[in-house]
Amino acid sequence: MTRTALTLCGSIRTGSQNEILRRYVSLKLREAGVSVEDISLGDYAMPVFNEELEADHTPEAAGLLAQKFAAADIVVVISPEYNAGATPLLVNTIAWLSRQKHGQFRHAVFGIGAVSSGKYGGINGILHARDTLSKLGALLAPTLLGVGPAAQAFDADGVPTEPAVRGKVEQMVKELTHFSRGGL
Ligand SMILES: Cc1cc2nc3c(=O)[nH]c(=O)nc-3n(C[C@H](O)[C@H](O)[C@H](O)COP(=O)(O)O)c2cc1C
Repeated sequence: MTRTALTLCGSIRTGSQNEILRRYVSLKLREAGVSVEDISLGDYAMPVFNEELEADHTPEAAGLLAQKFAAADIVVVISPEYNAGATPLLVNTIAWLSRQKHGQFRHAVFGIGAVSSGKYGGINGILHARDTLSKLGALLAPTLLGVGPAAQAFDADGVPTEPAVRGKVEQMVKELTHFSRGGL
């Protein structure tokens, strides 16, 4: 059965390095036979989460995105690390999604990656996101896809320059396709 994937990026900055990695992972998933939907969080605008907004002002985007998470076999999140954590955009998105009731974190297997300007490859941001998602019930692919420094990380076609990084992406794609639960 064909697996489905949703890919998104925790940076909506023009020229985002994480977006380049997201595109590469997406391409590798397609090559593995996965049906992939790429989305931009810029198209799912949500105000800064405040519990008071929930009753009357939950953004429609939160429900729509939660349903997409619930329907996908694989969710790939590639996000920069800000101050050793996840970006405000990603934290805010997860906060809104965590209040939805579509089983949004309990169906897909999640792959988490980061590109950072520093040599540690956003590993702290990855661990932060993994910690939160696993608390919400997500099944996480084991590969820690940290890439850095960003300045030398990709060639002009958006392919990772280091064989080790390409190998990590390949490993993550294997895990994502192997562990995804399909129609279960
Ligand atoms: C507010 C802020 C905090 C940051 N904190 C970190 C950090 O803790 N560790 C790190 O490696 N890079 C940090 N960076 C640098 C990012 O890795 C770098 O800007 C990266 O290119 C952002 O990803 P993008 O190109 O996908 O937007 C920070 C950048 C910003 C704007």
